[in-house]
Amino acid sequence: MLLTLDPPSADPLWQLTADCARDVRPQRLDLIVGVYRDDTGVSPVMQAVRTAELRLAERSGSKAYVGPAGCERFTRSTAALLLADPALEARTEGVQTVAGTGALRLLAELLAATGPDRTVHLGTPAYVNHPAILAAAGLRTVTHPVTPDGSAMLAAVRTARPGDVLLIQGCCHNPTGLSMSAALWDELASVMARRGVVPFIDQAYFGLGDGLDEDLDGMRRLLRAVPDAVVAVSASKAWGLYSERTGCALILSDDAAQRRHAATLLENIARASYSQPPAHGAAIVAEILTDPALTACWRGELESMRLRLGVLRDGLARLTGFAGLGEQRGMFLKLPLGPAAMLRLRSEHAVYGLPSGRINLAGIPAGRVGAVARALRAAHRPT
Ligand SMILES: Cc1ncc(COP(=O)(O)O)c(C=O)c1O
Repeated sequence: MLLTLDPPSADPLWQLTADCARDVRPQRLDLIVGVYRDDTGVSPVMQAVRTAELRLAERSGSKAYVGPAGCERFTRSTAALLLADPALEARTEGVQTVAGTGALRLLAELLAATGPDRTVHLGTPAYVNHPAILAAAGLRTVTHPVTPDGSAMLAAVRTARPGDVLLIQGCCHNPTGLSMSAALWDELASVMARRGVVPFIDQAYFGLGDGLDEDLDGMRRLLRAVPDAVVAVSASKAWGLYSERTGCALILSDDAAQRRHAATLLENIARASYSQPPAHGAAIVAEILTDPALTACWRGELESMRLRLGVLRDGLARLTGFAGLGEQRGMFLKLPLGPAAMLRLRSEHAVYGLPSGRINLAGIPAGRVGAVARALRAAHRPT
């Protein structure tokens, strides 16, 4: 029976990564997947994470089941960090999830279960997995273009029906590098509140744009203005915990009974999907966020990562002369290069990015910015 299925296409991102790994040219550069790398090309374990792990090992805790909601200490402390407002925290319930992807999927399932007629409005280009996650949950999706002024997004919300959803990234939009201004967040908040549209916020790159609080400020403004919202949080990037699969799903509502029911529903969905999330990454983040000294250490490391990305971005912007690069934020850079130019970049210069023109800035060693900029300019030539 399984053999009658049409052959599915493999994920192009991981296929490209495998091609890159097979490339034996010494100057080969993998700028494909969004993983932070230091100047030596290593995706490092942060010092705060290492300290937390040593403490956890010394305490030699238990490996017993954690329950479908996972580590409450992690979810509470992460929510406190992201919301930074006791009034918002008091309106929040949450569960630990299998990373940001797990949070997105659980929340999509929740939105589908509680509103089968909802439409989700999604800006394009979108994070590559958003459409697949929404479709897997059975949600209907309508797209609008992502633009710096947010005009298409505002127009979509103005014509949306009450109970519809807007899926947005909290900062450092993947793949465009756009972060919304405070004025745009405020305008969006007032339109969403008026139309009864539910924000579905994906927070993956906080701390890597303009600073931790700066990156979270827009979301906080929006959450104060609307009665209900859901937030998917990834701990992968900010704590470098990619393989630990750590994240949480937050539900904000003025209605205490509603948010409790929604949290129970999330736990039930988790139970039927993977039963319970992995414990280790959540224990690490909880250890960091409940110890002020360790939190300060982590914040410092995150800030160093952010500054390194900024130096690389500004260097490439200056040396390529490409317009609009300097305004982008986060781990990625969206280049003005199409699929043919990105193919030239791969075949002639051994620099691997996505066909859409997105590259992972963090994969560039500082000493190679000049060479990468020359390669980008050469690949950009008209054919
Ligand atoms: C915008 C966005 N959201 C969510 C995720 C999911 O992150 P993870 O599942 O690794 O925590 C990513 C990962 O690249 C992303 O770019």
